[in-house]
Amino acid sequence: QEDLFKNVVSHAKEYGFIFPSSEIYDGLSAVYDYAQNGVELKKNIREYWWKAMVQMNENIVGLDSSILMHPTTWKASGHVDAFNDPLIDNKDSKRRYRADVLIEDYAEKLNQKAIKEVEKARTRFGDAFNEEEFVSTNARVMEYKSREREILERMGRSLGNEDLEDVKALIEELEIACPETGSRNWTEVRQFNLMFGTKLGASSDTAMDLYLRPETAQGIFVNFLNVQKSGRMKVPFGIAQTGKAFRNEIVARQFIFRMREFEQMEMQFFVRPGEEMKHYEFWKEARLKWHLSLGLGRENYRFHDHEKLAHYANAAADIEFNFPFGFKELEGIHSRTDFDLKAHEQFSGRKLQYFDAELNQNYVPYVVETSVGLDRMFLAVFATSLKEEALEDGSTRTVLKLPSVLAPTKAAVLPLVKKDGLPEIAHKIIEELKWDFTVAYDEKDAVGRRYRRQDALGTPFCITVDHQTIEDQTVTIRHRDTMKQDRVSISDLKSIIENEVSS
Ligand code: GAP
Repeated sequence: QEDLFKNVVSHAKEYGFIFPSSEIYDGLSAVYDYAQNGVELKKNIREYWWKAMVQMNENIVGLDSSILMHPTTWKASGHVDAFNDPLIDNKDSKRRYRADVLIEDYAEKLNQKAIKEVEKARTRFGDAFNEEEFVSTNARVMEYKSREREILERMGRSLGNEDLEDVKALIEELEIACPETGSRNWTEVRQFNLMFGTKLGASSDTAMDLYLRPETAQGIFVNFLNVQKSGRMKVPFGIAQTGKAFRNEIVARQFIFRMREFEQMEMQFFVRPGEEMKHYEFWKEARLKWHLSLGLGRENYRFHDHEKLAHYANAAADIEFNFPFGFKELEGIHSRTDFDLKAHEQFSGRKLQYFDAELNQNYVPYVVETSVGLDRMFLAVFATSLKEEALEDGSTRTVLKLPSVLAPTKAAVLPLVKKDGLPEIAHKIIEELKWDFTVAYDEKDAVGRRYRRQDALGTPFCITVDHQTIEDQTVTIRHRDTMKQDRVSISDLKSIIENEVSS
């Protein structure tokens, strides 16, 4: 699994999907740039979402609100006071940890130690190795382990209860129980706010402190009444938007899974108070269906219903995806009650109410939210599509089996040779197709190598122009997944491609 993940990261770089940000300066941690193919794949995922959410639903409209917002927004939303992660510093190593990640790391170390113990015993006992015997002869070691495990479990509970004093005490206890795993010189556990601050205004005394938005949702809430009135929207209705969000993550690892600058695709659905659970269940199912429509495999998805709810929610679930490092959150569906709109009413002094003509009643609507990370979608699609395939002739090929609708380039047009007028015909084909699809031209290297390159880029079709083309206006069209080639007329290309790549 670790190897698979390494392959994903290096393939993304080698084939122009994702580069580390400002790489010539050694990069900036947890910030990435989408390269020539990545930007197309990302755009296609965004459009696939937009189409399903906005275009296909009469009662959902779009929005593109700004990243910078009035700072009171974040006071009202609770982010200034409650958008925190627990943090602890080690004074000896001068390293900073998110307390829950530190605990995860300890668990991993203990696991590794246990594996080593078993390996040592296996060598010692040879073929006669018997796990039960090993366990009993190592009773002392096991006792020691169970003590560590017990401390870890208590830590998990304390973190859940945000009892930071207790977490600190437990980390120290663990250090004593497990001295070889690290130093004992920790600072206290503190809450660290994840919002990035910035300033508006030129002079330092009049400048206003702002935040880069940590979620796109608040731009929707503050525009709720503007959109409702100008669009004559009737509850239930939704507002959708995609855009950048920023979080000063303490621990940022796992490539584009947890970034400091990332993109969200969010939709707030405004409903009658008391009807939110019906809509919540609807959107949970609808969103899972959307994911499944990409064909990455039902077994790669699962729901995780939250027991501990965020300050704004009365029900919440994640759609988790089987990433190369295991099942993790891909999308959140939250029933946010009237928490946000009420808070904005209170902080702004403006009414954010809706008049429901059917009920002849004014109310602050309840909100059901769907929120998916575009970069996480990218990682899910990209990692699952990347395959090493053994071929019949004994060789292997690397192929990116992207859903065709998302592929950065839909077809590559390849002249068999660089002469005899074949490049000219290839360019003419491109001129015709480029109005409807992203198409590429490639004449470098033998055609077999060009096929392999397009496989690695995820291009669903390769169109090859050869000498027969001059005579009868036909070309070969090669399918990425089956590698099958058909001879077809140039005039049929558009409909063949259309058939495969339309959503
Ligand atoms: N408005 C609700 C909200 O922001 P969230 O669970 O904090 O909820 C929603 O974030 C989604 O945004 C997550 O499911 C994830 O896909 C994505 N996301 C959150 N933090 C991220 C990060 N640091 N890097 C990449 N994606 C992130």
